[in-house]
Amino acid sequence: MPTPYQPERTLQDVNILGELNNDTRKVLSKEVSVFLAVLHRAFNGRRKELLKRREIRQAELDKGNLLDFLPETKHIRENDTWKGAPPAPGLVDRRIEITGPTDRKMVVNALNSDVWTYMADFEDSNAPTWDNMINGQLNLYDAIRKQVDFKQGEKEYKLRTDRTLPTLIARARGWHLEEKHFTVDGEPISGSLFDFGIYFYNNAEELVKRGTGPYYYLPKMESHLEARLWNDVFNLAQDYIGMRRGTIRGTVLIETIPAAFEMDEIIYELRDHSSGLNCGRWDYIFSVIKRFRQNSNFVLPDRSAVTMTVPFMDAYVKLLIKTCHRRGVHAMGGMAAQIPIKNDKEANEKAMENVRADKLREVRAGHDGTWVAHPALATIAAEVFNEHMPTPNQFHIRREEVQVSPQDLLNMNVPGKITEEGIRKNLNIGLGYMEGWLRGVGCVPINYLMEDAATAEVSRSQLWQWCKHGVPTAEGKKLDKNYALQLLKEQAQELEKSAPKGNKYQLAAKYFATQVTGEDYAEFLTSLLYNEITNTDSSPTPAMKL
Ligand SMILES: *[C@@H]1O[C@H](CO)[C@@H](O)[C@H](O)[C@H]1NC(C)=O
Ligand SMILES: *[C@@H]1O[C@H](CO)[C@@H](O)[C@H](O)[C@H]1NC(C)=O
Repeated sequence: MPTPYQPERTLQDVNILGELNNDTRKVLSKEVSVFLAVLHRAFNGRRKELLKRREIRQAELDKGNLLDFLPETKHIRENDTWKGAPPAPGLVDRRIEITGPTDRKMVVNALNSDVWTYMADFEDSNAPTWDNMINGQLNLYDAIRKQVDFKQGEKEYKLRTDRTLPTLIARARGWHLEEKHFTVDGEPISGSLFDFGIYFYNNAEELVKRGTGPYYYLPKMESHLEARLWNDVFNLAQDYIGMRRGTIRGTVLIETIPAAFEMDEIIYELRDHSSGLNCGRWDYIFSVIKRFRQNSNFVLPDRSAVTMTVPFMDAYVKLLIKTCHRRGVHAMGGMAAQIPIKNDKEANEKAMENVRADKLREVRAGHDGTWVAHPALATIAAEVFNEHMPTPNQFHIRREEVQVSPQDLLNMNVPGKITEEGIRKNLNIGLGYMEGWLRGVGCVPINYLMEDAATAEVSRSQLWQWCKHGVPTAEGKKLDKNYALQLLKEQAQELEKSAPKGNKYQLAAKYFATQVTGEDYAEFLTSLLYNEITNTDSSPTPAMKL
């Protein structure tokens, strides 16, 4: 492909600090490295400015200010004329989307499931070790070219050949994460640009040739300016390989509270590349707690009481559906994290009934599709959507009666108590997830739920908030630092007892202890723990030598 960039000049001061072998080189070639360096130099400065803006906004919220719709973009919200892009090939009907990490087994299983799309995850259900990131790219590269089949022992993993495979959508890491193993001018590249760039350069044309396109999920954005940055990345990328602008699609996860106030603006920024919005429900709860953690009016009860029907969640869902359908793009629902309970029929039936009820709520509300974490749930979700959504999507359900005010989005009237059981549950889930993550596993089954990073984030943020505000428990105790640390110690010991040797519970507990006492608070757990799973001690390989 002709590009205006000379490799020799562009690759000066570009280094790779991760292990390189023939597999790595297949997805991280010299040409890919040139493209990544171009992306970094064009966009990393803006990325860092946008992260600064998040800090500035946080300082405002810490003073007790609230959020509101932006006055400077009123003309965009009130303008009825503009629309998002029409659904791209393979994305017209996306009623059931399976999500999961990109290890080879999962890729094959996901593509063989009875779903319409597969969100291949480089983000929250993946621990970002170098091996995971690179092998994930390799697995998708091979899956796209139908050369992903493999054998493990006696078991064969083969892609189905009896039908069109689900449309692939890759979720890149959020703007806050960096990829330490690839540096440009001495700086680590952004995780977003690394994941986006490798997948795009290697596969965009191949995907188009095979009838779909380079499609992405875009996580954790906090403002429309961050969406504008993505849109500029898309334009540069398409120009770079001579692809028509508007071929890429991005579905944005609305999973932070500031983004909920900028839904229209986010679709507007991505306009020709927009494939809608999605309700990232667990991260959304995390974000509400995080952003308003200093404000005692935002203290929430036990996690089990924070359901999809409490006022602030209900308002968010309705506004998302209304906004998307007014702009002619998909309004995707949330995750059913349940996994089958194989040895308890009754418990299993109850769990599946909950899934069914949740999906029924979504399809009736007007969602165009929904997420499942396990192939076994795809059938249940599909039954519900097939029955209640005879059309490929429900853009025609406009929800014009919905009126959502800032007060609705911030209505923290959530009935429920804070109990010792709720505290212990949060500790268990947080520790359980972090323990797996520290071993390089980002998708961890805990109590028959497939948990990702959002789970641990909600848990530690609730504990932090409860300690900070010294809340009374239903049992009549006050949650303070000492009590929290005591319970943490007890739960970590308990979990360690039944875990195999070499487990990471003590390490998880050490980190968790810094996050639950109402004092220090890391913006993201994944950033806090990242150094534990990365090793950049080896001498760098200049990208020129690839
Ligand atoms: C890597 O690829 C080169 C060139 O194709 C080949 O000669 C070499 O044997 C390969 N190395 C391994 C470890 O497979
Ligand atoms: C509304 O948006 C359309 C499309 O972007 C634009 O052409 C038009 O000028 C806008 N109208 C107003 C009143 O801003």
